[in-house]
Amino acid sequence: MEHQRQKAPQQQQQQNDAEEIQHGPFPVEQLQASGIAAVDVKKLKDAGICTVESVAYTPRKDLLQIKGISEAKVDKIIEAASKLVPMGFTSASELHAQRAEIIQITTGSIELDKVLEGGIETGSITELYGEFRSGKTQLCHTLCVTCQLPLDQGGGEGKAMYIDAEGTFRPQRLLQIADRFGLNGADVLENVAYARAYNTDHQSRLLLEAASMMVETRFALMIVDSATALYRTDFSGRGELSARQMHLAKFLRSLQKLADEVKMHVRMAMHLTF
Ligand SMILES: Nc1ncnc2c1ncn2[C@@H]1O[C@H](COP(=O)(O)OP(=O)(O)OP(=O)(O)O)[C@@H](O)[C@H]1O
Ligand SMILES: [Mg+2]
Repeated sequence: MEHQRQKAPQQQQQQNDAEEIQHGPFPVEQLQASGIAAVDVKKLKDAGICTVESVAYTPRKDLLQIKGISEAKVDKIIEAASKLVPMGFTSASELHAQRAEIIQITTGSIELDKVLEGGIETGSITELYGEFRSGKTQLCHTLCVTCQLPLDQGGGEGKAMYIDAEGTFRPQRLLQIADRFGLNGADVLENVAYARAYNTDHQSRLLLEAASMMVETRFALMIVDSATALYRTDFSGRGELSARQMHLAKFLRSLQKLADEVKMHVRMAMHLTF
């Protein structure tokens, strides 16, 4: 984060407490400590698996498809990953405590925040749909700025990632919004990672890149505007309907997987517009 802020002591304390409970995402290199060879770790990374969580959440058959990793090695990798990532049952009270840590990012509108009980929730995917020119893209721009605000101002104290499928992202608009929230425009722009998606395969590949960036830096928000636009043009007619649905479902599944992988650490809100 570019913004340096003084935190109130109480807030700092809460943050420390939160960090004690939160662990992960672990970079995939951590598997080397459990006896996985560096070359195999590199193969995992090349296949877009950058965190130990990602290994743990990927089906075995998908791991088997990575070139150069034998079945025996895959099993060893899965065993090492499942030791680091808790995946069993937990009590409802623990889950309740975890849910209390979820923060809301303000939409910049008091009324809309009221409806959403504080704003858009981190750690999950929010779908935003509405008529054309109803302000979906505008809201995405606002969230890119508000997610950078301190927690006590309704922010997420993290960077934003923006996957733009329609070419409607405008940095100039971010500067205007930054002004409204009293943030330094140059810093706000620096804190937004932007990628233009050119086709549905590319859009899916960008998620892999996003996963590796999220291991290194704290992101509070990820926007895909719009997740479905490219599907409308890459697939046409009834003949391709089922292929289109399968591809889209896979994309959404990867997005959810990413939210699951990073939620403990970065508390990210995924945001899709349809
Ligand atoms: N700087 C601005 N301040 C206020 N309103 C703006 C500004 N820039 C654009 N608008 C208006 O906001 C409205 C909503 O536009 P927006 O692009 O967010 O809609 P959308 O829901 O994303 O539409 P689409 O479905 O076509 O993508 C438009 O009428 C646009 O003219
Ligand atoms: Mg739009």
